[in-house]
Amino acid sequence: MSVATEDANAVVIERDAPLSTWFGIGGRADRLARPSSVEELLRCVRMDPALRVLGDGANLLVHDDGVSELVVCLSDPCWERIEIDQRTGRVLAGAGVSLPRLIKATIEAGLAGLEGLGGIPATVGGAVIMNAGGKFGQIGDAVQAVHAVDRAGIEVVRDRREIRFDYRRSGLNELIVTSVEFMLCPSDPAVLKERHKEVMAYKKGSQPLAADSAGCVFKNPLLDADLEGIGARGERVSAGRLIDLAGCKGMSVGGASVSERHGNFIVTSRGCLAADVLGLMGRVRARVADRFGVVIEPEIVVWRRDR
Ligand code: FAD
Ligand code: EPU
Repeated sequence: MSVATEDANAVVIERDAPLSTWFGIGGRADRLARPSSVEELLRCVRMDPALRVLGDGANLLVHDDGVSELVVCLSDPCWERIEIDQRTGRVLAGAGVSLPRLIKATIEAGLAGLEGLGGIPATVGGAVIMNAGGKFGQIGDAVQAVHAVDRAGIEVVRDRREIRFDYRRSGLNELIVTSVEFMLCPSDPAVLKERHKEVMAYKKGSQPLAADSAGCVFKNPLLDADLEGIGARGERVSAGRLIDLAGCKGMSVGGASVSERHGNFIVTSRGCLAADVLGLMGRVRARVADRFGVVIEPEIVVWRRDR
């Protein structure tokens, strides 16, 4: 990796930079910037309006060839501020704040709304873009407003009434989220702590949390016909269960394998290629389609060179 400055106004650009993801594999960025102010971020947008944003890399597979667009990482401390108003329940968090850290802070402040998101590695920006969640709640339900920069380099605010949060969807993907306002409810910290503990225990018992993965690789599908023993038409069912019932657990391609603990987790080992993960996803998808007539779509974000 080399470091160079792209213009006189000094946004430092790292060349051929490694991209840190939870899969622990994948290619590099031709150019990477870590802006330390909104002004620097705006300069990055002007430099490359097609830039990509790297959060915690917990839902991301970078192709082995890496990416040519500028990658922006909001890891500077200026994106990691948390402001909590215990009286009103209003919380403001920078896009780079770690979600587990925010959850801990809001539980300690006696504010309810995020404790069900335990066990989800993310930055606040990445969690809101993906509307991260599960059976214990989704982050969109607690969002009051999103502050962001658009691709024309304009600062914008989206009120919750303008945001169409849906299953793993925010509709905000074209924006670069800079901070998020939450509205939480006063509650007893001891009760929240207990709830968080229960959620963590469920995740630890059912997911390979210690392995290298990006969580669930496929979205849970909506059934378009009744499926005996699985669910009724219109129901969203667990892709992990379908993968398990289709006998995919333990299947592998190169260094990628389907977790024995949860069928929707692909875990990687040393030397694994992004191409192995994609190859395995294709085989799992084909087997589920063959067995149940259900097509499962990727949940993870895949970055490919030149899109
Ligand atoms: P990244 O993976 O870095 O990026 C994801 C997408 O968000 C990319 O398109 C990226 O460009 C975009 N993005 C990131 N930050 C910004 C920003 N500031 N502005 C604009 N775009 C941005 N997910 C769930 O929903 N529920 C779960 O229960 C869950 N469990 C998991 C368990 C494990 C062990 C792991 C590894 C993952 C799990 N995931 C889960 C997936 C992952 O945690 C979420 O998708 C999370 O929201 C990803 O956030 P991130 O910051 O890592 O985003
Ligand atoms: N199941 C199996 N075999 C498996 C996996 C699951 O039989 O291999 C069964 C379980 O026993 C349970 C049911 O399927 O009866 C549902 O399982 P689980 O509670 O794990 O939920 P899921 O629908 O498979 C979703 C999210 C997870 C989230 C959990 C818990 C998706 C794609 N996945 O999984 O999110 O953590 O609920 O809230 O929506 C992620 O998005 O990355 C992720 C991990």
